Amino acid sequence: MLTAADNEYLCRVGPGTPMGTLMRRFWMPAIISSELPEPDCAPVRVRLLNEDLVAWRNTDGSVGVMQNSCPHRGASLFFGRNEENGLRCVYHGWKFDNEGQCVDMPNEPAESNFKHKIKAAAYPTEEAGGVVWIYMGPLEAKPTLPRPEWTLVPANQRVVTHYIQENNFVQGIEGGIDSSHVSFLHSTVASHRGGETDSYRVMMASDKAPEFRVAETDFGLMIGARRRVEEKRDYWRVTPFSLPFYTVIPGTPNVDRPFSGHGWVPIDDENCWLITYSWHPSRPMSDFGVNPGHNAHYVPKQENDKHRPRQSRENDYEIDREDQKNKTYTGITNGSIQDRGIQETMGAIYNRTVEHLGSADTAIIMMRRLLMRLARDLQAGREPYAATHGELLTVRSAGFLADEGASFVELADPIIRAGAR
Ligand code: FES
Ligand SMILES: [Fe+2]
Repeated sequence: MLTAADNEYLCRVGPGTPMGTLMRRFWMPAIISSELPEPDCAPVRVRLLNEDLVAWRNTDGSVGVMQNSCPHRGASLFFGRNEENGLRCVYHGWKFDNEGQCVDMPNEPAESNFKHKIKAAAYPTEEAGGVVWIYMGPLEAKPTLPRPEWTLVPANQRVVTHYIQENNFVQGIEGGIDSSHVSFLHSTVASHRGGETDSYRVMMASDKAPEFRVAETDFGLMIGARRRVEEKRDYWRVTPFSLPFYTVIPGTPNVDRPFSGHGWVPIDDENCWLITYSWHPSRPMSDFGVNPGHNAHYVPKQENDKHRPRQSRENDYEIDREDQKNKTYTGITNGSIQDRGIQETMGAIYNRTVEHLGSADTAIIMMRRLLMRLARDLQAGREPYAATHGELLTVRSAGFLADEGASFVELADPIIRAGAR
């Protein structure tokens, strides 16, 4: 349970808020590069940390991001003309470069130097992993880009997609680090009745009350969930929570599959981008039947609104009660819609003053404490270490069998950091 004040502290990310200030110390994966497919293409709207922005790809290929409101008289620059390394407002023709500097002011006398005095809010961008990253913090604190492994492998070894989730980003993280929900939300009716044949599902169903161990690390948290699956043998699922909002899903022992994980990038207090990245350290994704660029996660609501899935709150995520009786635990098809849907049902910003946390929620408690502590530290002038050490984000997940009594941190640590290069 949190106090109302702590809940606000944890969740609000607008300019000037403590959590928003902490988030602004980190580069954020905000746009899939292909959404700005070529130089001088159409600009896109971007909302991030409660700020309305516009992004465009310059003639030289670089990406500019600035406030989506013209400093002249507020027209939306989304309607702007993207021409010759700058974005030109269509109302009176003022033009801005990557740094938000006004570089042309054709409705003022040629001798006027007014344009030199006009500078809009603009943010640095970089591209890595097929994603445009944006940094919205103070320039003097700007770190180098983080190095999650999916950004380091060749393009054919990863797939990255994102869509909008209609709830606060912290709720998303809580679902991502909550290993006990997997035995329910994503399970089948058969696994609960003992008729399941899939070995992974049998293992997940065999112990529905995993024991949680959580260790704080330099990248965030290492979260171990232990399930007793055989006499004196445990199945450990170890999820890294890496700052400020990423996870990697634990895999199945001895199965060579791509890694997959999520980030919950705050759009504003009540919405976030769910970015999903899958990658294999050495093999193309096509080996696993996944084509780069293919969006396997959902059917879009509309052709022109590809960031919102068709299965949504308005249609109860297309729950099928027959299916729920006989096949899947939820009656909702698609694992990522199961997560999204159930997290949205908690409300846009869940009221944590009325929750009841149990031992299965240990990781959630520690994640909240960590984020709030880092925000308080920053308020006191102490910078977040992980923001300036992007190499720490090169983490994988771990799923392994171990003898009873083994130290999960000792076993998991080398596996989780094996992608560092
Ligand atoms: S409002 Fe943009 S140039 Fe006038
Ligand atoms: Fe889930």
